[in-house]
Amino acid sequence: MTLSEDDISRLTTAALQAQQRAYAPYSQFAVGAAILSASGAIILGCNVENASYGLAMCAERCAIGTMVARGESKLRAIAIASVGAVTPCGACRQVLAEFGMDYPVYLIDSQTHERCEWSMEDLLPGAFRLS
Ligand code: THU
Repeated sequence: MTLSEDDISRLTTAALQAQQRAYAPYSQFAVGAAILSASGAIILGCNVENASYGLAMCAERCAIGTMVARGESKLRAIAIASVGAVTPCGACRQVLAEFGMDYPVYLIDSQTHERCEWSMEDLLPGAFRLS
């Protein structure tokens, strides 16, 4: 289902806001994620790093965790903001795939505000599933 320009713009603003809250003193690479859930809520996540580098939590997975803790499990869309509009890492793709393959993933360049749209099928064809 395609979102209205208005919804995409609200989601983009939210992802950029979440990026501002990132805790990334080690990589200096701030990422913000904003989920538009089935209920219409906008749910934020940002990356949270640690002095023990391997413990870094990605923005996307933080947002998914908050969504689940709110009692929701359906996404209508997710927007992810970073410098260069990077694609989600492999672990985040698998976690996103857990909650459906039928929603758009908007990647936002926080410097230019350019946006591109990916599908989950583009990001993770043949996602692992327990049969
Ligand atoms: N990061 C994310 O938040 N999401 C991704 O999909 C890839 C990477 C974060 C983790 C780390 O804090 C920083 O970006 C640099 O890898």
